[in-house]
Amino acid sequence: MKQVEVGLDDRAYPILIMQGLLKEIGTELKHRSLGNKFVIISDDHVAGLYAEGIVTSCRDSGLDVQLLTFPRGEESKNLTVIDNLCRKLAQLGIDRHGVLIALGGGVTGDITGFVAAIYMRGIKFVQVPTTLLAQVDSSVGGKTGVDIPEGKNLVGAFYQPQCVFIDTDVLQSLPKDELLNGLAEVLKYGVIYDADFFNFLGNNRIAILDMDMTVVEAVIARCCTIKAEVVMADEKEADLRRILNYGHTLGHAVEAASDFAIPHGMAVSMGMVAVNKLAVAGGLLTPERAERIQSVIDAFGLPIEIPAHLDRQRMVDYLQTDKKSVGGRPFFVLPTQIGKVVISDDVETSIIVEALG
Ligand code: GLY
Repeated sequence: MKQVEVGLDDRAYPILIMQGLLKEIGTELKHRSLGNKFVIISDDHVAGLYAEGIVTSCRDSGLDVQLLTFPRGEESKNLTVIDNLCRKLAQLGIDRHGVLIALGGGVTGDITGFVAAIYMRGIKFVQVPTTLLAQVDSSVGGKTGVDIPEGKNLVGAFYQPQCVFIDTDVLQSLPKDELLNGLAEVLKYGVIYDADFFNFLGNNRIAILDMDMTVVEAVIARCCTIKAEVVMADEKEADLRRILNYGHTLGHAVEAASDFAIPHGMAVSMGMVAVNKLAVAGGLLTPERAERIQSVIDAFGLPIEIPAHLDRQRMVDYLQTDKKSVGGRPFFVLPTQIGKVVISDDVETSIIVEALG
């Protein structure tokens, strides 16, 4: 088993990474003495795949465990679902010693973490991410929340889990597109933080795409270590944590302009290539380095071009109203070399339009 520590004083927690970890979850939870009653929260698809195994593992360890589900999909990230879950927890008699288990991808982690943050003014929760994207990004760092009609993730809280349990076995049954979605975030870590890791990813592309578990486990551990280091330095995204948004500013605009038909990872992939053009135009990144990043992204089978049919003006409008824009000025994470980035909100709209292609 690999273990990564997120050192956040009284909110510190471990990330455990192991093939077959789901079967051991009861033992792990009992050993950590987190609480008296456990409630798995999952969507109705993922629950069908993994909830029974976790329930069995917990009950074998003598733990009291229940399951609550909500409909699969981003549409469930809303306050009505939060209200329903809180009411069901109350009906189950969950008190301040209850512990939630977020079983699923990013949506489930966001919803469950937010319920944990507000139910009885905060109860403990653990993350059991079942997609690569959630394993390398959203399950670590304590961002929780839901969407409202005015925007995505506009209501939420920073609320750290007690532990993150990553079972790499679940990736074997992940659809190829879902895997690619996560790989965009994996490549992101190389560009923003670690040139050696970026080269490792480029050199081990076949093994990663073929799901060689030794390599995949090492990749997940490195991503979690980088994320942990960034979050430890800047938990609430005042400064350094913003580097995790590399490719995301333009990526979110792509997602929005596609009415969210383009999945997050694919949009981030296009966003990374596009934002590199801003870095090249600003004289921060050499064309050769931009080309090297693009060729690795492309080799993984990730998209490098923003589809021509997407409305560019809609993307530019989105950038100005994005919740991370300050005074209508979006910020961009611009590589200066592979493994190093700077943050800038000083980019002309005409250059942005050009980079969108
Ligand atoms: N996914 C970006 C962050 O956690 O800050």
